[in-house]
Amino acid sequence: MEVSGAAPAAAAAVEAESGSGGKGSWYVLGERAVLVPYLREHVPRYHEWMQDPALLEATASEPLSLAQEFDVHRSWTLDPLKHTFIVLDKELIEGRFSPGNRHTEAMVGDVNIYMNDPDDMQLAEIEIMIAEHKSRGKGIGQEAILLMMAFAVEKYGIHTFRAKISESNTASLKLFRKLGFKDASYSAVFKEVTLEAPADALPLRFPLTIGDW
Ligand SMILES: CC(C)(COP(=O)(O)OP(=O)(O)OC[C@H]1O[C@@H](n2cnc3c(N)ncnc32)[C@H](O)[C@@H]1OP(=O)(O)O)[C@@H](O)C(=O)NCCC(=O)NCCS
Repeated sequence: MEVSGAAPAAAAAVEAESGSGGKGSWYVLGERAVLVPYLREHVPRYHEWMQDPALLEATASEPLSLAQEFDVHRSWTLDPLKHTFIVLDKELIEGRFSPGNRHTEAMVGDVNIYMNDPDDMQLAEIEIMIAEHKSRGKGIGQEAILLMMAFAVEKYGIHTFRAKISESNTASLKLFRKLGFKDASYSAVFKEVTLEAPADALPLRFPLTIGDW
């Protein structure tokens, strides 16, 4: 959705409340997963996930209060350099998937991109989290990353992806390397590996099944 007219700030605020932050609001359909916009209604469950010390460590996050989580949600939706989706496990969707229905019953994680390299705005850092243990090991994390990267190529013109992963996070390292990411650098201070991949070297599938939320 475009933000235009005499009061763009007000329009952006309205869009932020509706969950799109003025960046457009889409869903992306996969075989096992559906990516949907991160809405305010998703925040309480997201906040519950982020009480788990293992998830905080794996995602290099700090514990937040629920009020802080709502603030972070708002800042993410307003930030034009970030795009976040909630990952739905299709097997957990009650009834049929319907755009506009937040489907909190099926939310299992999130995937996001962040265009945070000032030297290259077509480079995006990508993060994935499948928080619900019952939905791990089903190929959902892998599919969610691939859907998000294809979306980022199509909607943001991204040509390179980067992932920063703790050296102890063997599952995530294996996942990104399996997709074709190569080690680019290592930080001894943060004990973290930076991996990168050009978009055209990744097994991205087009056309995407994508729709307006
Ligand atoms: C890492 C994570 C995203 C994997 O999600 P998932 O949906 O369970 O993974 P998938 O079922 O799609 O597995 C895809 C590949 O990842 C790797 N993988 C996933 N879980 C693994 C595990 N426990 N041990 C080793 N490799 C693993 C494998 O290569 C697997 O492919 P294979 O089954 O053909 O061997 C999930 O465990 C998670 O969110 N962990 C906590 C948060 C985190 O570490 N985020 C990454 C920060 S960028």
